[in-house]
Amino acid sequence: MSAQIINGKEIAEAVRQEISKEVQQLSEKHFIPGLAVILVGDNQASQTYVRNKEKACKDLGMHSVLIKKPANLTQEELIQSIDELNQDESIHGILVQLPLPGHISEKAIIEAISPEKDVDGFHPINIGRMMTGQDAFLPCTPYGIMVMLEHIGYDVEGKHVVIVGRSNIVGKPAGQLFLNANATVTYCHSKTKDLAYFTKQADVVVAAVGKRDTITSDHIKEGAVVIDVGMNRNDEGKLCGDVAFDEVKNKASYITPVPKGVGPMTITMLMKNTVKSAQKALE
Ligand code: GUN
Repeated sequence: MSAQIINGKEIAEAVRQEISKEVQQLSEKHFIPGLAVILVGDNQASQTYVRNKEKACKDLGMHSVLIKKPANLTQEELIQSIDELNQDESIHGILVQLPLPGHISEKAIIEAISPEKDVDGFHPINIGRMMTGQDAFLPCTPYGIMVMLEHIGYDVEGKHVVIVGRSNIVGKPAGQLFLNANATVTYCHSKTKDLAYFTKQADVVVAAVGKRDTITSDHIKEGAVVIDVGMNRNDEGKLCGDVAFDEVKNKASYITPVPKGVGPMTITMLMKNTVKSAQKALE
């Protein structure tokens, strides 16, 4: 059996068309959703991510502001910039690109962002709302995974989902979203003994570890759905995920590739959250 490849790029494009209509409806009311991105320092990967976010905003006709700060900026100065954006009515989403330089507390910065503009869904208020099933900004990568599965018509209710990785950005909230959708969820992580024992029982495996070849065909059962959140490089410098794609695709029923899998969904859900924030501001 060869798995169906879940084309994240195509699904992201379809979702962006829906977002584009929402932006159009807002602009008819002379209201343009605005996203502010703060980039501290000159981390190469962060610069690429931020450029992609700006381009996505422009393509959708949204307002986008990029604020670049030097790496030696103080935590107080950064909080001051966030405060200004919290007050700015033309801005509906604020994203501070992570990681930050070591002298700045990521916790303090995330908590300085107004929960009503926290389109990353990282603020403890939004995490608490998500955990208790209230309306919240959902973290973009886990949100994108749920939308992808919905798009292919895969219902997670009653399914056993094994999440591999427990980061605050992906693993932990992904498990929570699956739980909210009535799945049975198991978390595995770097201290899990016998990873394959757990993953072989899964209807859905989500790999979010940051280490290539973590999930091989020996880790999954026949017909499992495999979602690969990894972003790694192989020996030839080519982008690859956490899943040994070539062998796992022969055993899975559905699989996301890297690139063109989960990645394009993440920025799309950021745009969706920003538009949602703008719609709420108009209410
Ligand atoms: N750095 C890597 N991914 C992300 C993300 O989703 N949001 C923010 N703010 N920083 C990141």
